[in-house]
Amino acid sequence: MSSTEFTEINSLSLSQEQLQRVVVLTGAGISAESGVPTFRGETGLWRQFRPEDLATPEAFADQPVVVWEWYLHRRNLIAQVLPNPGHHALVELERMLGDSFTLVTQNVDGLHRRAGSQNPIELHGNIFVNRCGRCQDHWADDALDFSKLPPHCPTCAGEVRPGVVWFGESLPAAAIDQAYSKSQRATLFISIGTSTVVHPAAGLPLLAMESGAYLIEINPEETPISRLSDCVIREKSATTLPLLVKKLQSLKNGN
Ligand code: OAD
Repeated sequence: MSSTEFTEINSLSLSQEQLQRVVVLTGAGISAESGVPTFRGETGLWRQFRPEDLATPEAFADQPVVVWEWYLHRRNLIAQVLPNPGHHALVELERMLGDSFTLVTQNVDGLHRRAGSQNPIELHGNIFVNRCGRCQDHWADDALDFSKLPPHCPTCAGEVRPGVVWFGESLPAAAIDQAYSKSQRATLFISIGTSTVVHPAAGLPLLAMESGAYLIEINPEETPISRLSDCVIREKSATTLPLLVKKLQSLKNGN
């Protein structure tokens, strides 16, 4: 398939049928303009920190205090920022399409929910969730004692960990199953702000494309799926998404 590059959203040619089943996949780039650092790229977190020191089960077993301090630092940062127009545009798209819309995110920052998205599929978990590493129970912050890290589970006294997926761990089964089945049936798939290198999430656009979906990528940088996409928008998502959603709205209304 040849790639088509657009910077002008109005020249995007889609049919109403392509709005039947829309799947959106987001990555760290959608939250960049809210002030949440991405992972890769020049200012990315993985340029400053080694994932194996902070984001693996082995790292947590070796140095749970350091791992918790890093996650609490990121929580504080995220708690202070706001969803941006890109997140809000996806809320609008969900309102417009209802059950025909699925939002899948790799982000753990919870900004889609804070913007108002009803049911994002969080493939990598959520940084504000606390989960016991032993009995798997979930705990609200105020049920735990954070004065001595790591906090311990009130039920089984196991070490409580951030409710995110670390390298080497499986994704939550229900989340990835749902993401696969929705992507497989998608008529339009929009990949936003992700470097598309971390699997299995990175396989979703390809799965959709192989099943016949029209594939749009929104990313200022080239990624492995750029070449395969039907349309690549080399813009920042906070600027582009409101315009794209407007375009999809007029398509839905038959204009
Ligand atoms: P990355 O940091 O790998 O990629 C962010 C992407 O966003 C890059 O391709 C940027 O070009 C793009 N980008 C930056 N600013 C943007 C903007 N304003 N608008 C649109 N795009 C922008 O983040 P992810 O692809 O989300 O996993 O990373 C995937 C996973 O790797 C993360 O979920 C995390 C990480 O290790 C785990 O922690 C398990």
